[in-house]
Amino acid sequence: KFEGLAPTPPMGWNSWNTFQTGINEKLIMETADILVSSGMKDAGYTYLVLDDGWMAMERDSLGNLVPDPQKFPHGLKAVVDYVHSKGLKFGMYNCAGTLTCAKYPGTRGYEYQDARNYAAWDIDYLKYDWCNTHGINAKEAYTTMSHALRKAGRPMIFSLCEWGVNKPWEWGAPVGQLWRTTEDIWQVFDSVHSHGTWDALSVMRIADIQDSLRRYSGPGHWNDPDMLEVGNGMTYTEDRTHFSLWAMMAAPLMAGNDIRKMTPATKAILTNKDVIAIDQDPLGIQGFKFSDKDSLQIWFKPLQHGDWAVCFLNRSSHDATVHFNWKETAVVDNIFHHALKQDVHYTLYNVWTGKNEGTTKKPFNTVIQPHDIVMFRLKQ
Ligand code: GLA
Repeated sequence: KFEGLAPTPPMGWNSWNTFQTGINEKLIMETADILVSSGMKDAGYTYLVLDDGWMAMERDSLGNLVPDPQKFPHGLKAVVDYVHSKGLKFGMYNCAGTLTCAKYPGTRGYEYQDARNYAAWDIDYLKYDWCNTHGINAKEAYTTMSHALRKAGRPMIFSLCEWGVNKPWEWGAPVGQLWRTTEDIWQVFDSVHSHGTWDALSVMRIADIQDSLRRYSGPGHWNDPDMLEVGNGMTYTEDRTHFSLWAMMAAPLMAGNDIRKMTPATKAILTNKDVIAIDQDPLGIQGFKFSDKDSLQIWFKPLQHGDWAVCFLNRSSHDATVHFNWKETAVVDNIFHHALKQDVHYTLYNVWTGKNEGTTKKPFNTVIQPHDIVMFRLKQ
């Protein structure tokens, strides 16, 4: 029952990017309501994940974690039951270190006990962070928690939030279902935001890093380029490009905005079924950057039934002219062994306009605005 927990990249919502530790039961229950009423649940957003800051600062006298009584006056189980009653699944957060990143009690030394409590609360997903871990071996620490979760008996997705420090892609597959590949995302398109001791990364910087790791990702074991910043301050164009890229990379899609207040435009991005279908394609192949010339990037992703996704992305701050001749360009995925067929005229289905826009018989010519994309599903 622990197998097959994440055949496609997990989808849901996580409290951190917008709320940090400012979370409480009202927010979580309202978010559960909106996940359903907005159509996000139907679009695939299943896991509601409570990130750092849910605990009291001390364990109880028996060493159990205690939910903060101010934030969760009815305890955690009541909130979990409410979320489950909406047909959603519930995720939690802790950390492999002695303290979490926001300095709440960490799990180091309490792995089996904490896992038993999560099982008793009917938790479905655990994000497990990597702060305050001096002297701890990452592979061993994550393996211990993985064993503890299995011993507790309730299937939970195990999300390794190790930021790629100890190459979790090399050892994470038997341990959990997804692993972060980078430091935290920041809601900007293309720069680095220094926090002093660490750098938060923009959308494009994360995509740069993630691209070299595609061989490690696949059904049940995903590279995780961090949660979404859609609706958190970038332009509409940048949000759409961010979401498109995450789909091309078969990334877990964890919305990180305040969905109670999202605009129709933000909702339309997050619930675009054609883009989500590319992310969730059953082949589970992470797409690749096919070319990158003068900041015009072209990404491809093999899909089931011989379809492909393609994305033309303008990273620069000036217009980019695209001229792409399908018939004269060999597109080959050397790692997962797929090739675009030269003798097939694929239909170009534009996933953002919802329209068929020609075929691969003729070259594709267009001009793309700064930070924008054109994304097609190539249908056989
Ligand atoms: C780390 C993680 C974030 C978030 C915070 C919580 O920075 O990478 O995603 O969980 O900790 O403190």
